Amino acid sequence: MDSRSLKELELLELAGLYGFAQAATVARPAAAAQPSGQAPLAREPQAAPEPAQPANTAPITLPADWDGLRAIVRDCTRCGLCRQRKQAVFGVGAERGPWLFVGEGPGAEEDEQGDPFVGQSGKLLDNMLAAIGLKRGRDAYIANVVKCRPPGNRTPALEEAAACAPYLDAQVDLIQPKLIVALGKVAAQRLLNTEASLASLRGKIHQYRGYPVAVTYHPSYLLRTLPEKAKAWEDLLFARAKMLEFAAPRPHDRGAP
Ligand code: URA
Ligand code: SF4
Repeated sequence: MDSRSLKELELLELAGLYGFAQAATVARPAAAAQPSGQAPLAREPQAAPEPAQPANTAPITLPADWDGLRAIVRDCTRCGLCRQRKQAVFGVGAERGPWLFVGEGPGAEEDEQGDPFVGQSGKLLDNMLAAIGLKRGRDAYIANVVKCRPPGNRTPALEEAAACAPYLDAQVDLIQPKLIVALGKVAAQRLLNTEASLASLRGKIHQYRGYPVAVTYHPSYLLRTLPEKAKAWEDLLFARAKMLEFAAPRPHDRGAP
């Protein structure tokens, strides 16, 4: 067995230890109650969400520092999502990367606490990170396509994602990540400007404004769609291998003329 496979096996063990391999058991009893085989939503029940309002998608000049950017996002009213939020959820983690994980938008717990991915899907995300040896705050920054909670946890509208885009772009520019991981379709659509299925985007490196992007399933989707967890694990190994490649010093970094 080559050392790479061995490493992956060690990681598999690690993944089990951290509960990534079993995290879906949380959703299993509820899933069994669905005779159709359709998995239940991991998010809270949806009460007729308020539709998207017109948004301001005009370009905006933003401060190139974290505190300035944070202050602007806190008071932002560029789209209708500002109306029902308790607070904008800016993002959290390692401000110089090298990893940047991008989700969809805050849910109820994130809206309450002010940090991304603190609910059930956040636990799974942390386990996914741990499974490849990462820790939020130390190696990874975590942000969302929209910073304010969509009512009823509906999918953010394209216009809302566009209104919020300058903030994510500014975060990307400050972090200068070695690799961005798009979590789910909304993040992939926003970063790659494509309607392509998530399945067709996996296993490849894409580019977003010069930064490499890998795509995988959203943790909330994984909580309710058990078979996809193995694929997410493949995606994480792929992303980790690419990160090792991108982070390795290149000949000209070693002072070659
Ligand atoms: N889902 C997301 O996409 N982002 C969060 O912050 C929480 C749940
Ligand atoms: Fe502003 Fe983004 Fe919140 Fe909309 S979602 S109000 S654009 S911070």
